[in-house]
Amino acid sequence: MNLILLGPPGAGKGTQSQRLEKKYGTIQLSTGDMLRAAVRSGSELGQRADAIMKAGQLVPDEVMIEMISERIDQPDCAKGFILDGFPRTVPQAEALDAMLADKGLKLDHVIEMKVDGPALVTRVTGRFTCAKCGTGYHDSFNPPKVAGVCDNCGSTEFTRRADDNAETFGKRLAAYERDTAPILPYYREHGVLKQVDGMAEIDEVTRQLEAIIG
Ligand code: AP5
Ligand code: MG
Ligand code: ZN
Repeated sequence: MNLILLGPPGAGKGTQSQRLEKKYGTIQLSTGDMLRAAVRSGSELGQRADAIMKAGQLVPDEVMIEMISERIDQPDCAKGFILDGFPRTVPQAEALDAMLADKGLKLDHVIEMKVDGPALVTRVTGRFTCAKCGTGYHDSFNPPKVAGVCDNCGSTEFTRRADDNAETFGKRLAAYERDTAPILPYYREHGVLKQVDGMAEIDEVTRQLEAIIG
């Protein structure tokens, strides 16, 4: 099963991808996580991406298209994948269609997480992530069961993203509305677009996704 989760910053793409990965074994492919790994590695791409991400802008299409194409070729994607943060522009969506056709793959679902964009600022400013395994949390909406200890791996180290402040969030939301929202009609016309209520509680969103996936 191959699917796309679409939605603005803080919609819950990463949170739900991690849950679906656990349940279905389909791999979460988060282009944001890949870019943050590149930033940590200090590579040339990482240095370029760091400034772009801190400004809440998008990394150029050709870079992202190549990154995802190479990643889909890895053996772990044979079980299926969840695209989280890609495609983000119409050219990325068109390139994805072409590359999947080339690889003999298809999309099973494109799911829009319907949310009230401006209300999401509290989600991103309260977000933190396990430094060891990458599990995502929120100070009030999704804290670890034991404060300061990762539910998944027991680590006590966490990180916060450099772009998770109110000012950069505004720029990321504007980039979503300008560049990413136009891909919704693209998928609607292709008859593959479905929706879940991303404003519902985390468990309820998971139930709605499972109802679509079956
Ligand atoms: P990326 O990492 O993809 O960030 P984003 O799209 O801004 O999305 P987020 O990760 O902020 O939100 P999410 O939907 O995953 O929310 P989460 O589940 O964590 O991209 C970062 C940057 O990389 C971009 O700005 C760009 O520069 C670059 N980039 C990446 N891909 C690119 C591409 N394809 N092309 C060009 N540039 C690219 O949830 C947020 C918080 O809310 C968490 O704390 C969570 O616990 C909580 N939460 C989740 N669901 C709920 C709920 N239902 N109720 C209450 N709280 C909830
Ligand atoms: Mg995310
Ligand atoms: Zn962990």
